[in-house]
Amino acid sequence: MPTALLVPEISQEDTFEKIATGLASDGYCVCTSLLPESWVINLRNFAKQERNQGAFQNAGIGKLHHFTVDKNIRGDTILWVEDDFSNDYLNHISKFIDDLRLYLNRTCYLGLRDYEMHLAVYPTGSFYKRHADRFKLNAHRHISFVFYLNPDWREGDGGELKIYLPDGSETTVKPEGGTLIVFRSELEHEVLQANAARYSLTGWMLDTEKGVTFL
Ligand code: OGA
Ligand code: MN
Repeated sequence: MPTALLVPEISQEDTFEKIATGLASDGYCVCTSLLPESWVINLRNFAKQERNQGAFQNAGIGKLHHFTVDKNIRGDTILWVEDDFSNDYLNHISKFIDDLRLYLNRTCYLGLRDYEMHLAVYPTGSFYKRHADRFKLNAHRHISFVFYLNPDWREGDGGELKIYLPDGSETTVKPEGGTLIVFRSELEHEVLQANAARYSLTGWMLDTEKGVTFL
């Protein structure tokens, strides 16, 4: 059972304010050590167990009849998080994300109505080529977020997230356990090749209800 919500010494309000400010000024915000290590381990183990039971699917590109799997573009496997998942850690994170969504609506007038998220595993050797999460066929994604679930990530394990900023500069985020990255979904980014299995919880805040994003 999770005890404290995220990092006890930082109030949720301060974290939300930091994220809102980062999104407004830079288009992204990195919060390192946001999740306690015990949460990271629990969620990583949950993802591992579900994957071993065959619950994950190959991630694809596009929606409905445009959907294709192409490992030369993205090689991760995913499991969509549903409301009936009985994992307390996921429930806490869902509440955190929904509170963040409401905070961003209040402070940045974003009109975000829902969110969707999936667990992702990048097997050794896989990557996700440069792309944006908000694209012609799905313009409903406005804010992307990723919680990294690799308790013992170290240099050389790869799988860094590289974000391409509009001014031509780049920023690289290490997928270290407990880090949360939030960024505007129109920013192009890529996942560099993972040299060890890479775990994350990735999601999007939407301007519509989830489940109708193909409209
Ligand atoms: C994605 C994605 C980034 C990451 O799933 O669309 O870009 O760091 N993920 O996992
Ligand atoms: Mn992406």
